[in-house]
Amino acid sequence: MQYNFDEIVEREGSNCQKYDNRKLIFGTDDVLPMWVADADFKTPPFIVDAVKQRAAHEVYGYPLRPDSFYNSIINWQQRRHSWAIERNWIEYSSNVVVGLASVVLSMTKPGDKIVVQPPVYFPFFHVVEGNKRLMVSNPLINEKGRYRIDFDDLQTKIDADTKMLILCNPHNPGGMVWTENELRKLGEICAKHNVLVVSDEIHSDLVFGGHKHIPFASLGDAFAQNSVTLMSASKTFNIAGLSSAYLVMPNKEWRSKYQRFMEATHLSSGNFFGVVATEAAYTHGDEWLGQLLSYLEGNLDFLMKYFAKNLPKVRVMKPEGTYLPWLDVSALRVDADTAYKLLIEAGVGLTPGKMFGIGGENFIRLNMACPRSVLAEGLSRIKKALADY
Ligand SMILES: Cc1ncc(COP(=O)(O)O)c(C=O)c1O
Repeated sequence: MQYNFDEIVEREGSNCQKYDNRKLIFGTDDVLPMWVADADFKTPPFIVDAVKQRAAHEVYGYPLRPDSFYNSIINWQQRRHSWAIERNWIEYSSNVVVGLASVVLSMTKPGDKIVVQPPVYFPFFHVVEGNKRLMVSNPLINEKGRYRIDFDDLQTKIDADTKMLILCNPHNPGGMVWTENELRKLGEICAKHNVLVVSDEIHSDLVFGGHKHIPFASLGDAFAQNSVTLMSASKTFNIAGLSSAYLVMPNKEWRSKYQRFMEATHLSSGNFFGVVATEAAYTHGDEWLGQLLSYLEGNLDFLMKYFAKNLPKVRVMKPEGTYLPWLDVSALRVDADTAYKLLIEAGVGLTPGKMFGIGGENFIRLNMACPRSVLAEGLSRIKKALADY
């Protein structure tokens, strides 16, 4: 079946963040929203059908996650990422960030040090600092337009109080799909110092040709035992509003800590629709995902050429995965704050890079998960805003 990613879907008025929260975020509703990381594409029909079928039952009492749900996760990870996981390693969370906060709360104590690698998805900062843990930054190094991990800095920053490192693989906002060598080196340093690696792999299915996502925990038993992986079908299949994520924890001790926390907080209930949507996605989603990835690569190619031709001062860090190109605006004659305001005035709403912490100050993040015609309109507004600078 051929899916149509060119279709424009009217989202305004559907109580979605991206469109219906523009006034609060940008001070105006009059911007083309290219900010929060969901897609303007329709959720695939096999998911919509599964949700409708469950909705048609008309009794929405307490849900149970059936074996078929867990099997769909196990089969997907094996099929897509050659990662063999066992049923009892999988735990539920309502979303990835709640899972991350739960891991921080259940596996560390106030005052413990947790390493993050900015510029990075900013809720990482909230779950560390908001829960009174000490955040240690191991900034990435921008080397010829690709970030690399500063292993020397990491080694010097880890001390006896450092208990955890939160990894973003693939990386938001840089778009790196970390290589086996990078992951191995990171894992070896962390294992040596008893630092648990918490790997957010929510973008793992959104990887472009020539790159391969490697689950951190798939590198071998020592890596698996010293890790917690956070996952969801939500980014890939555009079902963030259905609230369903999962964690993979091969290590029994860490898993017990998480289970005790979930018992104490009753956070594990969930909802029917997230469960059936995840199962449908992982059972029927391969063909749709193949077409989505081709479409996104087409968008990326279009965007790269557009900037090179029309706005070469804006340098795109070409993503290896994710649909969130990271735009370096440091060569403009205005600073990134001013550029961001000019963009709003020109009618396009992006995400300021400084939100992603150290190293993000000169960047702006763009969400290209939209029909190509919408992307073209957004890019022409960006050109209008910044061409004179
Ligand atoms: C790296 C990363 N983790 C987590 C999330 C959000 O996940 P959730 O909505 O399941 O909390 C995002 C969303 O952009 C993300 O980029």
